[in-house]
Amino acid sequence: MTQKLDWQKLFDAAEQGRKNAYAPYSKFQVGAAFFADDGTIVVGGNVENASYGLTVCAERNAINAAVLAGKKLAAIAIVVDSRDPTPPCGMCRQVIAEFAGDATPIASRTVSGKEAHWTLGELLPHAFRRSFL
Ligand code: THU
Repeated sequence: MTQKLDWQKLFDAAEQGRKNAYAPYSKFQVGAAFFADDGTIVVGGNVENASYGLTVCAERNAINAAVLAGKKLAAIAIVVDSRDPTPPCGMCRQVIAEFAGDATPIASRTVSGKEAHWTLGELLPHAFRRSFL
């Protein structure tokens, strides 16, 4: 059964991911927190590379770690130090869609507290899913 979602707690976890993010090139540190249906929170941050294209976003780092820990996705929170809350990039949306339904909530918050909430279906309508294969 899905545990109750405490967005404040999830954003706090994402903030920890943001602090540990490795972004010496863009200087844009992103934190993400994966909320599992059993209440577990798995944190991620972006990890950049001198070979820029090898950069992995915060969301995918959190998702991959959580999937490998056997967790089922219930929600994702993102924290950024930006003027506006940032949604996940297109690549991350597709990766989220592998493990989420259209109704899965995704929220983003700036360090100053501005928040935005979406569902995956709003961010990635007509997702390409395994059912097409
Ligand atoms: N980034 C994320 O971690 N998540 C996103 O959804 C957008 C972008 C990272 C990638 C790169 O390290 C930095 O932010 C600037 O694009």
